[in-house]
This record gives sequence, structure tokens and C-alpha cells, in this order.
Amino acid sequence: MSTPALDVRRLVKTYDGGFTALHGLDLQVPAGAFFGLLGPNGAGKTTLISAVCNLIRVSSGEIDVFGAPHTSMEARAAVGLAEQDVNLDRFLDVEETLVYHGGYFGMARSDARRRAAEMMDVFDLRAKAKVRAPALSGGMRRRLLLARALMHEPRLVILDEPTAGVDFELRLELWDYIRRLHQQGTTILLTTHYLEEAEELCEEIALIRGGELLARDSADGLRAAYDARTLADVYVKAMAGEQPVGAAS
Ligand SMILES: Nc1ncnc2c1ncn2[C@@H]1O[C@H](COP(=O)(O)OP(=O)(O)O)[C@@H](O)[C@H]1O
Ligand SMILES: [Mg+2]
Repeated sequence: MSTPALDVRRLVKTYDGGFTALHGLDLQVPAGAFFGLLGPNGAGKTTLISAVCNLIRVSSGEIDVFGAPHTSMEARAAVGLAEQDVNLDRFLDVEETLVYHGGYFGMARSDARRRAAEMMDVFDLRAKAKVRAPALSGGMRRRLLLARALMHEPRLVILDEPTAGVDFELRLELWDYIRRLHQQGTTILLTTHYLEEAEELCEEIALIRGGELLARDSADGLRAAYDARTLADVYVKAMAGEQPVGAAS
């Protein structure tokens, strides 16, 4: 098997103050996969992602990104993250937001400007190039967040609830962007609360709760394993602590 995009081994995260958000989590995401991470609020999804992106210190365990330790420059350059919270710099316009991000990842200024122009075209932000973040609509901010995550052409794109609170049309638009990205060979790790979104987009789904992995399979595999008709039924059963019935899991 080729090197996985993400290899998380026995990951434990205990926050200052003593709360343990991840209890020895193991997770592998194959290169090129469209992978969904599902679980209720507080399951540890954002904690896991923050650990992968080296935004928080892990308590123990290991994380490799395409075979490189997650703290290495190599790993950090391989990952593009669109965070759950819209964290745009209010003093930067759209173009600056993108170009500065490119600079942060070591892109030459001319390359960063070219790539920024490309991203503004793809995400329909060209007309807003000189507009600062606070003057953008919510939908534009979401698109900018995604454009920024893609600036340095990461091989693994992590999207933390990219469609939370997003209207129906933009949701479809974001799906379309993300699908295309996946078709081009990018590995996608998506967290979401929308089961139909996971079902529609993801080849494989991991269910987590209380900082532990409950199950991991395709939507079909999960339905079979939980003897459930819909993914919603799977979700309810898994979160209630039911064990998969089949051997597949
Ligand atoms: N900085 C922090 N300090 C203490 N506890 C935290 C911190 N961040 C998150 N937590 C706790 O860790 C658990 C998992 O949170 P999170 O990873 O944000 O879950 P999810 O993204 O799945 O909703 C929650 O109980 C949350 O309150
Ligand atoms: Mg979260």
C-alpha cells in the first residue's frame, strides 16, 4: 500500500486544565481519498485537526503526513486547512489575504500573485480583490477561506465544517469546488454535521465520539455493519454505543 496521506497513531490530547479530548485515537486516511469525519459537537474533530496541523501540542502519540512527522516543514507544506472558525485578517483585502498566505508558505511573490489571481477566478472573488474581509458577505468569506487553504497547492486539504451555517446554494457550490479538487488527486478530509453531505461526498467515513473512533468504512459498509437502512440510523446507533453487527468495520 502507498504511503497514507494521514497516519494518526495512539493520539492523546489532554488540554491544560486536565480535560482529555482524544483518547489514543488511531486513524489512517489513504492518499487520494475523500474522507469524512463525523461526530457530535465535542467529539474531538477540531482537536484532531488542530493536532494534525501542529496548532496544538499533542500529549502523546504520533502523526505522519505523507510519511513525514506532522511537525516537519514538509508536512506543514503538504496540508491546507480551512478552519471551522472564519479567521480572516480584517485589515487585509481578498488579494492580500491570498498573497500573504502564499508568502507564509515560501512562495515567491510573483508566484503567489499568479496563484491568487487563479484562486480569485475559481472562487468568483475577482470583483472583490480590493475588498477587506469585514466588507465581504458570509458566503464570500467562506469561499475566501477555502481559496486561502488552497493557495500553496496542498496535497491534503482539511475542511473543518466548511458548510456549517451556509445557505443551500453556497453549499452546493462548495461541494462542487471540493469535488473537483478531489478529482484532481487532492486528498480531502472533511468534518461535517450533515449526514447527507458525508454520504454524497465521502468515499469513507469515520465516526468519532468522546475522542474515540467508533467505526470507519464506506457509507454502504457502515450501513451493513450496523444493520441500518440509512446513514442517520447508523449514526444514531453508533452514538448510542451500539457495536457493529457485521465483521466489516
Ligand atoms: N482549548 C481547550 N481547552 C480545554 N478544552 C478544550 C479546548 N478545546 C476544546 N476543548 C474540549 O475538547 C472537546 C473536543 O472539542 P472539539 O475538538 O472542538 O470537538 P468538535 O470539533 O468535534 O466539536 C470538547 O469537550 C471541548 O470542550
Ligand atoms: Mg469542531
